[in-house]
Amino acid sequence: MATTVITHIGELVTNDPHADDLLGALTDAALVVEGNRVAWVGPATDAPAADELVDAGGRTVLPGFVDSHSHLVFAGDRAQEFAARMAGESYAAGGIRTTVAATRAATDEQLTAHVARLVQEMARQGTTTVEIKSGYGLTVHDEARSLAVARQFTDETTFLGAHVVPAEYADDPAGYVELVTGPMLEAAAPYARWVDAFCEVGAFDVDQARAVLAAGAAHGLKGRLHASQLGPGPGVVLAAELGLAAVDHCTYLTEADVDALRDSGTIATLLPGVEFSTRQPYPDARRLLDAGVTVALASDCNPGSSFTSSVPLCIALAVREMGMSPAEAVHAATFGGARALLRDDVGRLTVGARADLLLLDAPSHVHLAYRPGVPLVAGVWTGGRPVWS
Ligand code: NIG
Ligand code: FE
Repeated sequence: MATTVITHIGELVTNDPHADDLLGALTDAALVVEGNRVAWVGPATDAPAADELVDAGGRTVLPGFVDSHSHLVFAGDRAQEFAARMAGESYAAGGIRTTVAATRAATDEQLTAHVARLVQEMARQGTTTVEIKSGYGLTVHDEARSLAVARQFTDETTFLGAHVVPAEYADDPAGYVELVTGPMLEAAAPYARWVDAFCEVGAFDVDQARAVLAAGAAHGLKGRLHASQLGPGPGVVLAAELGLAAVDHCTYLTEADVDALRDSGTIATLLPGVEFSTRQPYPDARRLLDAGVTVALASDCNPGSSFTSSVPLCIALAVREMGMSPAEAVHAATFGGARALLRDDVGRLTVGARADLLLLDAPSHVHLAYRPGVPLVAGVWTGGRPVWS
């Protein structure tokens, strides 16, 4: 198998869980890729010979970002809704219905081309694993095709039929939950790994969310949940009780929520692009970390609450606004995202891991927050192959 050595790495972030420091960072390091895997890491002076050599020139190499929460399958945009919010309107779950109408009207080809563009945009910014949800179709046909589109780009696909009750079911939310847990799930499950629900006032209550997660589990789908985005609610405790991999948003947490997360090991995925784009208060990452909760950072890329594909922006916001250190934020956007997807082959650069990595045009990971808005990602490899550089 062909081997490549990347050498003269000023700082190599491995996220080795056995290291003394959080990032398992090595200086003056090298990394050998064999096939699609990491075959060796260590001091540059000890690096074995390889077929090909890449000189990092003292720059930083880190695991590709694992963006564990996005809603890329949609059509249209809601720029006017954003502008209205910046003029004082508040965000409400109902805006989702605008995107549902546009998504239903789009062809499969249009949806696929749009997802391709966004996935490419993400890759340019260092994302090498992305989770993609459905949730803007909300009919049996449109949810299944949304997931079929998403599946062309990732195995981490999530059925989110329980995103909002669509207009045609406004008078019969119970009937809509029956549709979601019955025929819609049946059609969607072959294309999905995960099932999710938006547990929030204006979307689905805790009993409805529980029913959706249980039905998904009966079809072999693993659960994750949107909760406590717009106010405190019972979703976080439900996620912990069910031992879900992750509960996402966690903007408004009670003491009981924090205790439940710590005791369950459920990952709290924080999505600062949402607070940026909705002018809400940012989640308190410091409180979670100090309590011993594992945190992930993700973009939540969607046309309503967070139309950014940039994990580096999320890292910068998490450091500036949420009490995270640069190391904690980088760890949350790589290792944390992998944990939130129950993956141990990505989010780290240890021997045997997938060679998903990025080259940062900077001497250390700190620059991701220190130089906000600057396109520092100089090259990206997935499975040992350059995506671009
Ligand atoms: O994660 N919270 C629910 N879903 C998305 C927003 C979707 C939208 O506004 O279109 C979110 O923020
Ligand atoms: Fe979301």
